[in-house]
Amino acid sequence: MGKDVIVACDFPSAGETLAFLDKLGSARPFVKIGMELYYAEGPQIVRSLKERGHKVFLDLKLHDIPNTVKKAMAVLASLGADIVNVHAAGTKAMMAAALEGLTRPDGSRPLLIAVTQLTSTDEETMQRELLIPETMPATVMHYARNARDAGLDGVVCSPLEAAKVHEVCGKGFLTVTPGVRFADGDKGDQKRVMTPAEAKRIGSDYIVVGRPITAAPDPAAAYGRCVAEFVD
Ligand code: C5P
Repeated sequence: MGKDVIVACDFPSAGETLAFLDKLGSARPFVKIGMELYYAEGPQIVRSLKERGHKVFLDLKLHDIPNTVKKAMAVLASLGADIVNVHAAGTKAMMAAALEGLTRPDGSRPLLIAVTQLTSTDEETMQRELLIPETMPATVMHYARNARDAGLDGVVCSPLEAAKVHEVCGKGFLTVTPGVRFADGDKGDQKRVMTPAEAKRIGSDYIVVGRPITAAPDPAAAYGRCVAEFVD
């Protein structure tokens, strides 16, 4: 899979998600669905999106004992998800078990990426509450290296970290980056942002874009603009 724009479908129901996707006309973007929608609608939402021709990033961030994650991942692979993820904090053993569970009988598997440290956790909280004594950048890069060593395909990271991740883990290690805004757009609650064109320049492999597309007056045009800036 090459560079692509992933549309974050942060909607509470299948009805709202499909109504939004209908606004995109004949485009069939790569979509990301998260816990809220998946827990509300169940596996059928993944099957419905796949039937419509979308690729699906199932953002469920698994984190449990290796055996449980392995079995859960086998279920997600059978639904036809294209990208799934885990918390790198679950350990290399858990990440390796996830990969094993994901591999389908024909040898194919979804891409597996890791969350390093959530952007909602700041360095002080990480050090004082989680008792991780390192700096945030050192921790993020260490977790990225662990993910690569476990055989994962990449990490979710800020576009500002993508170049460093490639430097540390290799060019082929995927960076999937949220926090993207148009130059003339509203930043909303995202603090550190990049435009799609800047994300392309610094080497992000996939950008995850939500409200700049989902809340746009013309979502099809906004999606087209993202693709034009990032992919074309
Ligand atoms: O609407 P917006 O473009 O801010 O959506 C970004 C998407 O990426 C949301 O689904 C959000 O949960 C997700 N995300 C993020 N920052 C992270 C990890 C995930 O914004 N560090």
